[in-house]
Amino acid sequence: MDARGILATKRDGKRLSDAQIREFIAGYVSGAITDYHASALLMAIFIHGMEEGELAVWARAMLESGRVMKFPGISKPKVDKHSTGGIGDKVSIPLAPAAAACGLAVPMISGRGLGHTGGTLDKLEAIPGFRTHLSEADFARCLERTGVALGGQTPDIVPADRKLYALRDVTGLIESIPLIASSIMSKKLAEGLDALVLDVKFGSGAFMVAPARGEALAKAMLGLARDFGVRATALHTNMERPLGRMAGHSLEILESFDCLEGGGPADLRELVCLQGGEMLRLGGLAGTLDEGKARIARSLDDGSARAVFARVIEEQGGNPRCLDDRSLLKRASTVEVVRAQRDGVLAWRDLRALGAAICELGGGRKKLGDVIDLGVGLEFEVQEGAAVRAGDVLLRVHHEGHGLAQAHALVERSYELVDAHRPAPLVLASWST
Ligand code: URA
Repeated sequence: MDARGILATKRDGKRLSDAQIREFIAGYVSGAITDYHASALLMAIFIHGMEEGELAVWARAMLESGRVMKFPGISKPKVDKHSTGGIGDKVSIPLAPAAAACGLAVPMISGRGLGHTGGTLDKLEAIPGFRTHLSEADFARCLERTGVALGGQTPDIVPADRKLYALRDVTGLIESIPLIASSIMSKKLAEGLDALVLDVKFGSGAFMVAPARGEALAKAMLGLARDFGVRATALHTNMERPLGRMAGHSLEILESFDCLEGGGPADLRELVCLQGGEMLRLGGLAGTLDEGKARIARSLDDGSARAVFARVIEEQGGNPRCLDDRSLLKRASTVEVVRAQRDGVLAWRDLRALGAAICELGGGRKKLGDVIDLGVGLEFEVQEGAAVRAGDVLLRVHHEGHGLAQAHALVERSYELVDAHRPAPLVLASWST
């Protein structure tokens, strides 16, 4: 196969034909097209972008490079959510059992930590024994028995994305709207969904920092959902500040447990209720968003979401006793405080630095295959926009001594104490197919 014609089309800023796209994706997955050809094409896509119809063909070719899961035994509406991620974003963990407690089936393929962000699979593995390597048969069994399956991408789910993503990662080609949209949506569409809620973050802790770029990504993903006949809503939410009070694997599981018991931080609960309510509405189990939100809130308050999560933990090999006995979760041995150096109002400036700090403490991977420390992390004492006095505790660092000086320097870069600061709203906008 001669890939040069395909490369030249995109190099010159033209639209790839449907045949060129199919030939490229199939050829790359089979090995007939090399990494150096693929890198050149990805760079040209990064620079020139893709037209809407072209992106739909590209996403379909990716999806059809592998299997689409089918769950014929499940009559409940199958609805999932995806977040573009950030610092402290643990919404999926309480959300999936809450949505299942309200009658949905939630087949959720999640990822591992990426760059400065944590990954749902890594967080779940902070629960002792929890298995995230699920085969398609395991996925169906978990879904049938509990209404939830929480696993990673199997080798036959979108193999094109596995190869393309790894290549983008090492060639600096992650932050492209058509490449991100097709990567996320091909994996979500492989779950055989009826509907999908997308949480697209904006702010310094998001992949798409500027709200306008987040909006463009949301609209590209909604366009793909429409092409594939999947009802979808995108919510544009705040990642200018951490979500909740905890960031780090075990710490986020603890906060998720609090949420599943009707407590936890208000912003986490609000996003769980909002996204869950919209999942119920899209899945036809609630007439309005408000009705859906109220049902999710009830499932958190009456213990039904927690009971589903106990069954999910057990079904996936974990120890559900950790819900009652939290000392079963791994914790860091030492906690240190960071104090305010002056009077002022807290304004976050660089959330990526917070993610990098957790990574320095051992809570993130610097290269593929690194083992992460699930106990380390950050605990935020002060909310964005709140006034503090010199000497007040701003945050706590949970650590094992490793990488502490680097983490401190990064934390100091992440915030400022200013005279006045007005935080942006938690939810900026929402769009539906
Ligand atoms: N997450 C994905 O799954 N793919 C991307 O390209 C970026 C984030």
